[in-house]
Amino acid sequence: MSKKTVSDIDPSTLAGRTALVRADLNVPVENGRITDDQRIRASIPTLRLLTEAGARVILLSHLGRPKGAPDPAFSLAPVAAHLEKLLGHPVRFVPVSVGPEVDAAAAELRDGDVALLENTRFMAGDTKNDPDLAASWAALANLFVNDAFGTAHRAHASTSGLAEAVEARGGEAVAGLLMARELRFLGDALDHPEHPFVAILGGAKISGKIEVIDALLPRVDRLLVGGAMANTFFKALGLETGASLVEDDRIEVARETLERAGERLLLPVDCVVAAEIADGAQTKVVQRSHVGKGDRIGDIGSATRDVFAREIADARTVVWNGPMGVFEVDAFAGGTVAVAQAVASACDGGATAVVGGGDSAAAARRAGVTERITHISTGGGASLEFLAGDALPGVVALTEKS
Ligand code: 3PG
Repeated sequence: MSKKTVSDIDPSTLAGRTALVRADLNVPVENGRITDDQRIRASIPTLRLLTEAGARVILLSHLGRPKGAPDPAFSLAPVAAHLEKLLGHPVRFVPVSVGPEVDAAAAELRDGDVALLENTRFMAGDTKNDPDLAASWAALANLFVNDAFGTAHRAHASTSGLAEAVEARGGEAVAGLLMARELRFLGDALDHPEHPFVAILGGAKISGKIEVIDALLPRVDRLLVGGAMANTFFKALGLETGASLVEDDRIEVARETLERAGERLLLPVDCVVAAEIADGAQTKVVQRSHVGKGDRIGDIGSATRDVFAREIADARTVVWNGPMGVFEVDAFAGGTVAVAQAVASACDGGATAVVGGGDSAAAARRAGVTERITHISTGGGASLEFLAGDALPGVVALTEKS
């Protein structure tokens, strides 16, 4: 990577140095309880590296999408408590993210201490990339470590704005260990894949994924498409899709994509359908040419699972983003779980697989295969934008390696 990372810094220079760390601690919290702590765990290696070297860490993150003002529902307080347990090290929670209380907490930090500031998005200027807000954070340290890969596609004050503000003051803005790892795995899959290279795309909409399809098509040997986005391709082929989700304004794009892709793009050959996508629904598997007028397609069928599994078994590189069906509902989870298992088996056989964050990461967990997969990204939107070939502002703003 052309950007400087935290590993490029001589650890002996970190003792007593204040480091501002932007992590993506945007985790699901229900009634004050964290229901999935993957992102917190993924932030630990950088925090350990810094604290063990004696740096004084001021940690920043957003949580959810508050409306630019304090909202207790989006407080990072439960995250601070959880992080403290995982880190095995005190984490001081500061209930604001700018102002005298932050300055005082920063001044009280001792070598190896960690302070987590309150949700950056309680400040309206964060998502607006307000330079004054970025400058007020930059005044706290001359080292900024951006480890928030999940937020790297956002040009916000606490991401790219802060990197620029620290550099403008003569400091350095470096990638954290997680950020570097994410960029390495995703970058290698795109630029130096071992072939056969199989990409699997799913999820509800083709609209958010068309750029990814365009970017992947010239690189992959096979592109397997599942999820409701396949329905739009079915419609483009003139097939009946019943009452299923279809993006009518994307049918033409789907048709063009099919023509361009030729045999490289594989659509499901059969589907699990029901009158309703709901728990306890009466389901049946039909060939894709036999979807009825009242049917809703909720998952890929058993023949498709076999076809996809064979393609995945042959692959040396796999990139997977998006579920094959409505996997939150048990009756429609089988296709996604089958793909997760096939990807894990390919990894057991020596293939490299990179799984996009969000739903696909949850699907891998549900299938119980997380540990067997080479890399599960912490970024949903960020990994998609990366795969589409877009520059990520949070990365672009980092200091170049000299
Ligand atoms: C995510 O969950 O994808 C990241 O934390 C970014 O969150 P955002 O979509 O609210 O910017």
